[in-house]
Amino acid sequence: MKAVQVRKAHDLVTEEIEKPVIVNDNDVLVKVKRVGICGSDMHIYHGTNPLATLPRVIGHEVTGQVEEVGAAVKHLQPGDHVVVEPISYCGTCYACRKGRPNVCLSLSVFGVHEDGGMREYLVLPEKQLHAVSAELPWEETVMAEPYTIGAQAVWRGQVGEGDTVLIQGAGPIGICILKMAKLKGASVMVTDLNEERLVFAKENGADVTVNVQQEDVLARVQEWTDNEGANVVIDAVCLPSTFKLSVDAVCPAGNVVVLGFDEKEAGISQLPITKKEVTITGSRLQTNQFPRVVELLNNGKLTHDGLVTHTFSVNEVQDAFRFVEEHPDQVRKAIITFD
Ligand SMILES: NC(=O)c1ccc[n+]([C@@H]2O[C@H](COP(=O)([O-])OP(=O)(O)OC[C@H]3O[C@@H](n4cnc5c(N)ncnc54)[C@H](O)[C@@H]3O)[C@@H](O)[C@H]2O)c1
Ligand SMILES: [Zn+2]
Ligand SMILES: [Zn+2]
Repeated sequence: MKAVQVRKAHDLVTEEIEKPVIVNDNDVLVKVKRVGICGSDMHIYHGTNPLATLPRVIGHEVTGQVEEVGAAVKHLQPGDHVVVEPISYCGTCYACRKGRPNVCLSLSVFGVHEDGGMREYLVLPEKQLHAVSAELPWEETVMAEPYTIGAQAVWRGQVGEGDTVLIQGAGPIGICILKMAKLKGASVMVTDLNEERLVFAKENGADVTVNVQQEDVLARVQEWTDNEGANVVIDAVCLPSTFKLSVDAVCPAGNVVVLGFDEKEAGISQLPITKKEVTITGSRLQTNQFPRVVELLNNGKLTHDGLVTHTFSVNEVQDAFRFVEEHPDQVRKAIITFD
């Protein structure tokens, strides 16, 4: 079967490997249908993801169809459509005991620390697979994992009905956060420097959009919130400057959510944090967000609405990566098909 592997930095190949087989009773064999290309796959490709070891079969945004189940599998059967929950964890460390296995001390992310889903077949334990409605197009179900990132950020920020939420960045992650914040009944301002991305944010429910190259974000936030500041600020740009702006733009008693993996220091003063008693919280991957996202997908409340812009076959994967890289203005989410 075909598998897409990053052998070393800048060396991406589609090669023939053995089809995996069921080993444990709780294993499920899945025929992969669609896999999303994520910013972090690009980082692995460039050798700039410090967490990934190479060679690696990439891909963590995965949907497919069950082909075979192990003897102890309870909730899945051949033919079921599924999405992959890309984390495995120890279950005993502090984070796991606190119900936060996404930051387990020995976390293993599918497609990062271990081989992922950009291959024709995969085997995973049942608990890492969630059944989705077989009525849904694969182009919808492949977005489940990015939506869980949005759901997590909204949960970490404790976004509630009627809250004012500033989302910095209208890339795919910003849009997924926007969709989840709107489903919570929040009022949302989205910033970006790309006008097309702002138009797309507006189409996806943003109440206010701000082009950071033309307007002063802080002033717009103050005006929008009657000088209170935003109740929640979620940074989906992840630069030191946007982190700093988050702390300045948030209201007293508000929440700032950080998603970046940037190691650069932001140089933020303690005063606004203490004075406003701001909660600053990290958001990584997701905890228990798949069931809710699957429910929203199944009942049609969560649709990609143009977020998936490009489709490439597994044989065109090099072209896909090149295209994503060279046309950030055109690509929102590109996906690989395994039909
Ligand atoms: N914590 C997690 O679990 C997690 C998961 C996925 C992605 N991420 C991170 O989220 C971030 C966003 O991911 P993405 O795929 O949407 O990236 P992206 O690069 O596609 O989107 C970023 C957007 O920010 C805009 N932008 C740049 N500078 C800006 C500024 N100063 N103000 C406002 N907008 C600005 C860009 O025009 C772009 O549209 C990345 O840093 C990524 O590493 C975190
Ligand atoms: Zn991703
Ligand atoms: Zn653990």
